Amino acid sequence: MVRTDKNKIFLEGNLREETRSALVCIYQLIQKLGYQDVVLDFSGATYVDAGMMLPIASYAAYYRKNQIDFSLVEPADPVLQRLFINTNWAHFIDPQKYALNNRRRSNNLPVLQFQDGDAQFDVVNRAMEILMETIKVQERKQLKALEWALNEITDNVLNHAESPIGGLVQIQSFPSKNRVSFYVADAGLGIPSTLRKAIAGISSDSDALDRAIREGVTRNKATNQGNGLFGTFKCCEESSGSFLILSNHAVLRYDSKGLSVKTDNVPFRGSFISATINYSTEGLLEKAFVFGGKIHEPANDFIDMHYSHVEDKILFEVSKEVEGFGSREFGRRARSKIDNILVDKNNSILFDFGGIPLISSSFADEVFGKLFAELGAMEFMRRCEFRSVDATVKRLIDRAISQRMKESN
Ligand SMILES: Nc1ncnc2c1ncn2[C@@H]1O[C@H](COP(=O)(O)OP(=O)(O)OP(=O)(O)O)[C@@H](O)[C@H]1O
Ligand SMILES: [Mg+2]
Repeated sequence: MVRTDKNKIFLEGNLREETRSALVCIYQLIQKLGYQDVVLDFSGATYVDAGMMLPIASYAAYYRKNQIDFSLVEPADPVLQRLFINTNWAHFIDPQKYALNNRRRSNNLPVLQFQDGDAQFDVVNRAMEILMETIKVQERKQLKALEWALNEITDNVLNHAESPIGGLVQIQSFPSKNRVSFYVADAGLGIPSTLRKAIAGISSDSDALDRAIREGVTRNKATNQGNGLFGTFKCCEESSGSFLILSNHAVLRYDSKGLSVKTDNVPFRGSFISATINYSTEGLLEKAFVFGGKIHEPANDFIDMHYSHVEDKILFEVSKEVEGFGSREFGRRARSKIDNILVDKNNSILFDFGGIPLISSSFADEVFGKLFAELGAMEFMRRCEFRSVDATVKRLIDRAISQRMKESN
């Protein structure tokens, strides 16, 4: 439930479907009642999600630029309280009190802001790095599809929105469900507003959103193709995921019930897009990216750009790729990256252990013992090479592999 008392907004209980009410309250306190300082009181909240918090974060960042202060009363529930800090929701509501958390979180990218192309490039790369560590695809093209969609939606903010705060992006992965959700918000002009200026005959904001996700619809045929929203939407649709756009006076929603577009009398300032994709869908890229009757395969992906080659091998600099070498958890993340590289049968890896004096035996087993057992000796030797391995590290890897071999006999 969401209610107000003077300049305070109380957000209580399960807030799953309360995004609109929260935004309406913010709008009313500031635009109608003229408050210059708004308190968001989450002390009684029991459930919140990025679908609500990213739009709120975007509003807070926008209004702060216009000299309106936001402050936060943290949830009393300690789990939620940590979530507010870790995801940077707290930071974007009240940056003076809460520092930006720049650390990687295992399955998630906290909310990050991008205001130019370099920052956008950075954010997408960080997201891909996290996805490489947390999800396991069956085809390299599935990762490509996720990267493409994320690039397009964030790129749209810089290309079209004229947002004074740039864009905010947050990503969550749900490896056990084979799903990734990404959320992008800006406080700019809004999709209907930019499209309506360019295309005659759009009858309403909801008509504009309905058209925006169709193939080839763009505000500028000379410079753009109009495939970004279409391709992203198709990724969600083809994978039975979900898709949501809030922008100006319209809401577009795609979920298991199908596609709907509705008018909303309270406008959303800017655009908010939430996309959930089931990446394990077979042939996801080939199904989703058909433009002008042809399958579009993005030329370069994260793996091409992030890794260099030594002869025909992908160079995996272990000290840079892995945050720690002491535990199975770090081992699992390293293994996930390695699997996502090796999923492409053309790839083999040169592991460079330069600068690493020691790894734990659980790390050695999690990564190399298990990889050896899964690939088998011949395939392991064909696809994995090592260099600059310290004698102690070598012993540990050898032992991990021989123990796994014993187990399989
Ligand atoms: N964040 C945004 N803010 C404002 N308008 C947007 C935003 N995102 C998309 N639009 C509008 O929706 C239209 C369609 O977007 P879409 O990404 O599908 O195509 P495009 O960006 O024009 O072309 P392409 O993505 O192929 O380069 C854009 O031309 C623009 O008018
Ligand atoms: Mg685009």
